[in-house]
Amino acid sequence: MAGVTTFLPLILSLLFLLLNVGNGVHCFEEKKVFNLKKFQWRGPSNVPSCQPQKSRKENGATILEMKHWDYCSAGLAKDLEQKLQKRLVADDSRVRSLQSQIRRAAFIRTEGLSAAQLPLTSGIKLQTLNYIVTVELGSKNMTVIVDTGSDLTWIQCDPCKSCYSQQDPIFKPAISPSYRSVLCNTSTCQSLKLATGNSGVCGFDQMTCNYVVSYGDGSYTRGELGRERLDLGGVVVEDFVFGCGRNNKGLFGGASGLMGLGRTELSLVSQTRSKFGGVFSYCLPSTEGDVSGSLTLGGDSSVYKNSTPISYTKMIPNPQFSNFYFLNLTGISIGGVALEASGFARAGMLIDSGTVITRLVPSVYKAVRTEFLKQFSGFPSAPGFSILNTCFNLSGFGEVNIPTMKMHFEGDVQVNVDVSGMFYFAKLDASQVCLAVASLTYEDEIGIIGNYQQKNLRVVYDNEQTRLGFAEEICSFT
Ligand SMILES: *[C@@H]1O[C@H](CO)[C@@H](O)[C@H](O)[C@H]1NC(C)=O
Ligand SMILES: *[C@@H]1O[C@H](CO)[C@@H](O)[C@H](O)[C@H]1NC(C)=O
Ligand SMILES: *[C@@H]1O[C@H](CO)[C@@H](O)[C@H](O)[C@H]1NC(C)=O
Ligand SMILES: *[C@@H]1O[C@H](CO)[C@@H](O)[C@H](O)[C@H]1NC(C)=O
Repeated sequence: MAGVTTFLPLILSLLFLLLNVGNGVHCFEEKKVFNLKKFQWRGPSNVPSCQPQKSRKENGATILEMKHWDYCSAGLAKDLEQKLQKRLVADDSRVRSLQSQIRRAAFIRTEGLSAAQLPLTSGIKLQTLNYIVTVELGSKNMTVIVDTGSDLTWIQCDPCKSCYSQQDPIFKPAISPSYRSVLCNTSTCQSLKLATGNSGVCGFDQMTCNYVVSYGDGSYTRGELGRERLDLGGVVVEDFVFGCGRNNKGLFGGASGLMGLGRTELSLVSQTRSKFGGVFSYCLPSTEGDVSGSLTLGGDSSVYKNSTPISYTKMIPNPQFSNFYFLNLTGISIGGVALEASGFARAGMLIDSGTVITRLVPSVYKAVRTEFLKQFSGFPSAPGFSILNTCFNLSGFGEVNIPTMKMHFEGDVQVNVDVSGMFYFAKLDASQVCLAVASLTYEDEIGIIGNYQQKNLRVVYDNEQTRLGFAEEICSFT
């Protein structure tokens, strides 16, 4: 008895502390140091041009070096702030297009949709697709944009009716001995419908299979389907089906084309299933400095450099929209405080390498914003910037402690957002720095996990076991 009385004050204060943790008292919130100088976006200042990215083979997996798109677009540093704004405007129009595609496909709502519908592909993101890798097609190096949200891989082809300028020499099928046309009476040609939303069309010679992928922002690629030898870091795929683009328009940043990592039969993942088992993963590098990430084809996890175990959540089946990857967001914690919102766990959330900023349904966004402001208090606020409306003037600070952000997925999977993915610099002097998460307009729209919040994570897309894995990893290629 005497012991209990002696320790009563201690027990009471422990109880007090425990209760307060739940209430989010400041001294118990989880925070991370955010160094403003380190994460300030400097752009492509010291990189002259877009060199081919490296690749290697390791234990049956292929590892492709992956760089941020800015690496390829030197000379734009003077207009950085304008560029940052444009990127968000593009990100917004892309997300709107995605929403209307998903809505149409899922028949959630039919009113308000005009006749001029967007195609089933997600390619509106072309301005914002940010990551590139280099592959060898017909023994030529081709640097392409990586897209997990579309299926057809395509390359600009000579002779070209209309091509944008690219860094690599343009691909010439006529002088490649391993190139063959895909005929229009084949099932491969028919698979275009599911992969791109547009059926393949017989060419004027009634032989070639013509494709078109048009994107909501006015970008498009048109041409014919071909087969070619594809070398992915030393793993050769014969007769790889791709789009030989003869008429291409859009902001593809000097890349030769695009690699489609979606889910239908035409995607690179499906076509390489016998080599890589339908599994790929990436680590998206943060943009400060000349940092590389990796795109790994194949499921041998021993080649990853993750520092925490991979935990898997299941892909939510979405038969109407079979080329996208959906998962189930069940919660978010800010600084260790679990948020309450009606919008969790309701519909699938899309994960995408092409959207920049994560979009949350309004109820979830509101909860994130409120809790973040509560914990990140005492800092001068700044006006909103484009789609971002939780902004601060941090120009007087060298570093700040910011609350951590954790996403929870079905199956008790927890993903810590890297500190580099928390703030977006609207002004380079840090006088307008914004929480890098945005709200959707309606509660019935589909949330999207953008690439900004996927940095320094190993994200594993396992199509065989229909699951997605996450682990922490500081990205590097070597
Ligand atoms: C492709 O680029 C890599 C890396 O720079 C280089 O080693 C390789 O020789 C190039 N291959 C061809 C066919 O040009
Ligand atoms: C497709 O057309 C080619 C050329 O006319 C013909 O040789 C081939 O048998 C046809 N294939 C099918 C599956 O009909
Ligand atoms: C998400 O997971 C929760 C909890 O397991 C479940 O109740 C809910 O139905 C799931 N939502 C979807 C869209 O699968
Ligand atoms: C931001 O804060 C700094 C000092 O902390 C101040 O000098 C500056 O005027 C502020 N900038 C804006 C745009 O409010």
